[in-house]
Amino acid sequence: MIIAPSLLAANFAQLAKDVRRADDSGAEWLHLDIMDGHFVPNISFGPAVVQTLRPFSRKMFFDVHLMCSKPEILLEPFAKAGADQIIVHVELGERITQLFWAIRKLGKKVGLSLNPPTAIAQVQPYLDQIDHLLVMTVNPGFGGQEFIYETLPKIQQAAAWRKERGLNFHIGVDGGVNFKTAKDCAQAGADVFVSGTSLFKTHSLKAAVRKMRQLVTPT
Ligand code: DX5
Ligand code: ZN
Repeated sequence: MIIAPSLLAANFAQLAKDVRRADDSGAEWLHLDIMDGHFVPNISFGPAVVQTLRPFSRKMFFDVHLMCSKPEILLEPFAKAGADQIIVHVELGERITQLFWAIRKLGKKVGLSLNPPTAIAQVQPYLDQIDHLLVMTVNPGFGGQEFIYETLPKIQQAAAWRKERGLNFHIGVDGGVNFKTAKDCAQAGADVFVSGTSLFKTHSLKAAVRKMRQLVTPT
């Protein structure tokens, strides 16, 4: 099970310090939300920020979540900035296959995400081309939102297809993931848990990561 603190919930006045906190917390991935003010109604940060923060974490896998309408222009800058994986959205349409190819050519892992209103069937044709499927459990654009329970059956369906087809992509959840909903997602078949508010907005990120890991790890 992979725990991925989302930097969107960190203290923007001390991002380097919070990246260090995450690096020391035992979490495997650092989730980086890239918002362009067009695909989603918010703007976060760009490649220069990721490049600056990369040296503050040697251990963590940088998971770059592109909520952007023109990811084509951003793949290389984020790859150079230190991304290990780049996630694009299925709502971008047919051109995502070209995006997968471009991400692979940059030597990075490929992630695919879908928003709550999007049917899980939309990602089915691409499951053998990806390393990671990110099921959005809130409408993207902001942290601190309520988890949308109607998204749980999508996780179950994706897990069933993965098993049927002998594939091994990760299944991640993102948005409103707290100690209760993380457990529900794990039972539905998720293995990557992106969480901002419930991890960064705590006194001890290390203790919060440990607690979430205990809750999602099958006994
Ligand atoms: C929302 C982002 C999420 C968000 C999660 O569009 O993709 O990664 O930062 O934050 P919480 O856990 O606070 O919902
Ligand atoms: Zn995200």
